[in-house]
Amino acid sequence: MTTAMPLGAAENTEDEDEYEAVRAKVAARFTNPLDLPKEIFADEVIYREELRRIFNGPYWHPVAHLAELPEPGSFKTTWLGGVPLLVSRGQDGVVRAFVNTCTHRGTMLEQRASGVAAEFECPYHRWLFDNQGCFRGAPGQRDFRADFTPDDYALPTLRVEQLAGLVFVTRSPQAPSLTEFLGEAASPLGDCMLDDGRLTLLGYQKVVYRTNWKTYFDNDFYHAPLLHTGFRMLGWQGGSGKVIITQPVGHLCVEYQSRRYVDNGYLADTSVVEFRGDDDRARVVALRPVTVVTKHLDTINVRFARPLGVDRTEVHYAFFGHEGDTPEYAEHRVRQASNLLGPSGFITIEDAAVFSRVQKTSGDDGYQRFVKGADRPLEQATQNDELANTIGWAHYREVMGFDR
Ligand code: FES
Ligand SMILES: [Fe+2]
Repeated sequence: MTTAMPLGAAENTEDEDEYEAVRAKVAARFTNPLDLPKEIFADEVIYREELRRIFNGPYWHPVAHLAELPEPGSFKTTWLGGVPLLVSRGQDGVVRAFVNTCTHRGTMLEQRASGVAAEFECPYHRWLFDNQGCFRGAPGQRDFRADFTPDDYALPTLRVEQLAGLVFVTRSPQAPSLTEFLGEAASPLGDCMLDDGRLTLLGYQKVVYRTNWKTYFDNDFYHAPLLHTGFRMLGWQGGSGKVIITQPVGHLCVEYQSRRYVDNGYLADTSVVEFRGDDDRARVVALRPVTVVTKHLDTINVRFARPLGVDRTEVHYAFFGHEGDTPEYAEHRVRQASNLLGPSGFITIEDAAVFSRVQKTSGDDGYQRFVKGADRPLEQATQNDELANTIGWAHYREVMGFDR
């Protein structure tokens, strides 16, 4: 179950000396692989290096689902770390991803979150680009400098691959194929997204967590039935469902049986969380570095996330339905989705409260520690322990140069 993957890019940066000093100090503090020095959640120098080695490094990042780009000209804007992206379905039907920048003086080209456009016009000097990224023309073009060649001014393109309708991008030429990157996570991911090309977009919600992106992503399963009222009212305690952890990157896939709400006193109105579907196999697929995909309790959800800084993480919850849904069931999916996840969701509110409390202590020179089941062999991983987290952290240490 290994997934070979080249490690972080090694080119030099101006910040190299500054990072080297921090790296050496942090590496010395990694005395036990199950204990994480808290400064990795709070240090600005480490954060900047993560943007370089991870978000601009050889990882694949989901940026859209095809259901968000249903017709030629459909587009969506998003971010990869600190880089603005424009994801566009061209007139030829092909989905491409570009850096969302005018190639003249660098104005952000498209500011809308999504829409349909045959062309993108920069407001600054009115340069025009088509939805396949080509430069189409500009005012005053006859007087442009002698070496001006339209092809040199196409929008900068990212590598794109797709799986189960999800569009992945990378800025790194060193990234392996998407299949290699995902390894054994590919099949559960396909199952999570239903994988029949018939998902529909129901809508979005956005949450900004006051926490480092790694704390947000590394939301272990140990806590799920303990912190979350949502799971307690469903009577879900976790258990022995399937767990897949890919090596070396540490993607985590969990499958479990979801439960219907039985009136156990948590809800005055039992219709707030009501499971109507017939698929009770719930799934969570957590793809490093920072994307989570879930299918449970009538909801299908992709959490596109990005760091906003060392202590802020923005999560764009995209909710999906299926072409075969009746209007009533689609409406139920929307209600159920908002009641569980997003700004008013039972689960999200509790996570957000804890994440900000974790962040508040990140300057105390202590450690975050993995304890429950953390030193078992991988084959013995169960859903509710912290073993799954440790694989991804081993990879992180290596990529960031923190191995002792
Ligand atoms: S910066 Fe876009 S046209 Fe000049
Ligand atoms: Fe949680």
